[in-house]
Amino acid sequence: MPDSEFTAGDVIALLRQLADAEIEIIVDGGWAVDAVLGRQTRPHRDLDIAIRHSDVPRLRTLLEAQGYRDSPRPDTTAFNFVLEDPDGRAVDVHTYEFDSAGNHIDGLPYPIDSLNGRGIIDGHPVRCITPEWLVRFHTEYEPDKTDFRDVRALCEAFHIPLPKMYEKFLELPPSLPRSAERLTAAIDRSLATPAPQETEALLIRVADSNDLDAVMTVQRAAFGSNVEAELTRDLLNDPTADPTVSLLAVEDDEPVGHILFSKARVGERETPATLLAPLAVVPARQRRGIGGALIATGLAAVTRSGADLAFVLGHPDYYTRHGFAPAGRLGYEAPYPIAEKDADAWMVQSLGNAPRRLPTGRVTVADAINRPEYWRE
Ligand SMILES: CC(C)(COP(=O)(O)OP(=O)(O)OC[C@H]1O[C@@H](n2cnc3c(N)ncnc32)[C@H](O)[C@@H]1OP(=O)(O)O)[C@@H](O)C(=O)NCCC(=O)NCCS
Repeated sequence: MPDSEFTAGDVIALLRQLADAEIEIIVDGGWAVDAVLGRQTRPHRDLDIAIRHSDVPRLRTLLEAQGYRDSPRPDTTAFNFVLEDPDGRAVDVHTYEFDSAGNHIDGLPYPIDSLNGRGIIDGHPVRCITPEWLVRFHTEYEPDKTDFRDVRALCEAFHIPLPKMYEKFLELPPSLPRSAERLTAAIDRSLATPAPQETEALLIRVADSNDLDAVMTVQRAAFGSNVEAELTRDLLNDPTADPTVSLLAVEDDEPVGHILFSKARVGERETPATLLAPLAVVPARQRRGIGGALIATGLAAVTRSGADLAFVLGHPDYYTRHGFAPAGRLGYEAPYPIAEKDADAWMVQSLGNAPRRLPTGRVTVADAINRPEYWRE
C-alpha cells in the first residue's frame, strides 16, 4: 500500500475531529461511492469533502495544526482546493453555501438534495453525496476505467440506468465461452476488471457516426446483400428509433460484427421495449461466439437503458439459445402479420429490470423498419 493511502480508519478519525469541532462534513468522491455501497471497493489516495464555505477558516486551522498544507492544483480556487499532510494524504475540499431558504449563495453549485446521502465507512455512519448525484457528477468530465467501475457499481446497487457515455467501456475478454450464461458471466468479469491491453481480444464497443462505413460493410458481408446495411443506416438516422444501441465487434483492429437495437413499444401502455435487428458477423469469423457475445452485451446495454422487453424476428434455433421465446403465443403481436409457418421466428425476452407481469399487445417499431418487406422471414 502506498504511504499516502487514505484508509477507512484515517477517514473516520478525521471525521470525528471535525464533528467535535462542529464542522459538518459531506463525504464526496471515491469514498462517498464506497460509503453508499457500504464497503471499500478500492484504495483511495485522498478524501473528498463538501463543507459550508463559512466553515473553511476553522477547517484550515484544524488541519494545518496537523501539518496539512495547501497543495495547489490547476483547478484550485477558493471553493475547490487540496490540503496535503506530510505523508502525502490529501483532503480535497469543495465548498458550498445555502441561505436559510435553501438558495445557493456561495461556493460550488451543489444541488441541495445531492447532500442528503447516507453511507457507512468502516462500520460508522457518515453523511455523503446521494448515489443518484454521484452518478451524475461522474458524467461531467471524460471518465476513465476507475470512474466506470465506480459508476457501474452504483448503477447496479441502486438500479440507476448506466449513463450513455459509459457504454463505450463494455468490453469482452479475449477467450469467449460459448453458452449465454457463461458469456454473461464473462461480460460481468470484463466490466469488473480492466480490459487486457494489446491482446488479440475481441472488443465490443459502442459504434458512433464515424463507424457507419465499417458497420455497413459488416452487414453487407454477412447478408450478401445491401438491404440490411441500408436498413441499419436508415434506423441510425431515424429519430423514432431512439434510443438505439449500436455495437461493433472488433478483432485485431478489424470490424467483424455488428448488432443494432432500436426503440419499440408494447400495447396501449407503451411499455418500453427494443427490437434487435439486424445482427451480422462477417462469414470468415462466424461460429466463434461473436454473434452470441454481441447479443449478450447488447441485451445488458438495453436493459440498463430502461427497456423491459426485447423482440427479434429471426431463426428460432439461434435466438432461443440466447434467452428468446416465441412471442405470438405469449400475446405479443408483430407490427405486420407473420406467416403461420414462421410464427416461432417472432420472439421476445423480458429483461433484467422488467416487472413480473408485463402488459402484452401489439408491438410498434421505428418508422424505418415499419415496412411489410422487413417482416417476411
Ligand atoms: C447469425 C449470425 C449472426 C451468427 O453469428 P456467429 O458469430 O456465427 O454466432 P455464434 O458463434 O454466436 O453462434 C454460432 C452458432 O449458431 C448457429 N447458427 C448460426 N446461424 C444460425 C441459424 N440461422 N439458425 C440456427 N443456428 C444458427 C451456428 O450453427 C453455431 O452453432 P454451433 O456453435 O453449435 O455450431 C451469423 O451467422 C450471421 O451474420 N449470419 C448472416 C446474417 C444473419 O442471418 N443474421 C441474423 C439475422 S436474424
